[in-house]
Amino acid sequence: MEENSAAAGETPNPTPTGIADQVLIAFGDAYSIDAYDQKPLPCDLYTAEGVIRARAGQEISRDRLANSWVQVERELLLSKVTVPVKTILTPSMHDSWEEEDAATIEKRVDAVPFEPFPEVKAGLKKNLHQFKEIFRRHVAGRRILLASKQNRAYSESIVRFLDDLTDKPLHAADYIEIVQHARAPENYTSFAHAAAVAFYALSIAKKLRMLKQDFIDRPSVGRWIPIKTRRHPKAVGTLPFSPQLAKYFDGQKATLQVKYREAEREPLLESAHDLMHDYAAIDFGRPWPSMRCDWGDGSRMVLGMAALNSDIGKLCLPNEVLNTPGALDPTERAMARIHPLLGLFLLKEVEFNIPRALAYVLGHHGLGENGYPRLKYPIFFESRVIGIADMYDAMRSPRFYGRVLSQEEAFAELEARYHEGWFDLPLWVAARHTFEEYNHAFVTKRLRQSQALKE
Ligand SMILES: [Fe+2]
Ligand SMILES: [Fe+2]
Repeated sequence: MEENSAAAGETPNPTPTGIADQVLIAFGDAYSIDAYDQKPLPCDLYTAEGVIRARAGQEISRDRLANSWVQVERELLLSKVTVPVKTILTPSMHDSWEEEDAATIEKRVDAVPFEPFPEVKAGLKKNLHQFKEIFRRHVAGRRILLASKQNRAYSESIVRFLDDLTDKPLHAADYIEIVQHARAPENYTSFAHAAAVAFYALSIAKKLRMLKQDFIDRPSVGRWIPIKTRRHPKAVGTLPFSPQLAKYFDGQKATLQVKYREAEREPLLESAHDLMHDYAAIDFGRPWPSMRCDWGDGSRMVLGMAALNSDIGKLCLPNEVLNTPGALDPTERAMARIHPLLGLFLLKEVEFNIPRALAYVLGHHGLGENGYPRLKYPIFFESRVIGIADMYDAMRSPRFYGRVLSQEEAFAELEARYHEGWFDLPLWVAARHTFEEYNHAFVTKRLRQSQALKE
């Protein structure tokens, strides 16, 4: 995906030529046993001999976990290069480079060319300091660790703020647009990308929740009188539609009136109506995986916390791997591809013991033939939400490598993945909805807030 996407102009990996080293590690080394009583397992459980004891998804009591093992790939064999975890955890000699500090990013935030709602700006500044604290690293002997134990508390605080924002499109737009303006390759990993991926993942999850509530959980399906668009020029009768989502679109359209002049508003309204047609075309009689997930408040908290921590393992990667323009050599690529696993090591050390969140982090690049790391158990659907948010943000933002793709190019890339089966239809539509709603291409065209609210 972001490190290996075709969009970055790289060729796909050759098929691995050997068998990766599968090892069993104690369950307690991978997850917190205390936090685990009677919860469905994210992974298969083995005895020390490798005999399978319980399947992923099964509920199992704590005492059985104590003597159980889970399978991980300690060494990932990619192309022809094997990278042991311990070499990566060793800090590079040349690795004193750090991303911008909070004060520098704050100056960028203060320089945005519009007037955001004061509470959104204040909230984002608070988040910014929390992000920098979460992503602070510390070298202990020959290992890189997280310097702060506050990850869990700060992640929760950020997710709560972002999740509330997604109910208010105007406020939400301010947040993500400040992030777009303040972002630079120099603050990519430790602030801008993490904030954007969490924001998009939560925004998508909220939409999936509306669909699930209205069509599946307690069906109360409304009707929509379709609005003609260039893509849908023919008049049709009313179509079934989620009442919550219809109300959401009303709010979104009201936001467009406030934010933009007519020239910008028109294509955005057209796109909103096209998306309504796309939602109306989903057959909810089919067993969509996204409609079987729980998108409730607690689950969105876990999803958001995993999303904002999904790339934290990159703190272990040498700067030459992370921030060098151009294609990575096979060794560097193999190192980059281990970052979800490195993230798990880092998070465990700071008592971020939320098994499902760790499983989502581990799976966020796991889609498709070249997904990594290769996992024995199926990827949670929530990892796909993080995955699509991650790919979109990576393609649409300046980094040290790869160019910024246009909205159309990014959508074409994601659409190809959709056709490969990476996302189900409700997720694909909800994700496009979110990415259109907060379309980077229009950020610079928005009116200043105060001016817009006066008009
Ligand atoms: Fe990642
Ligand atoms: Fe990422």
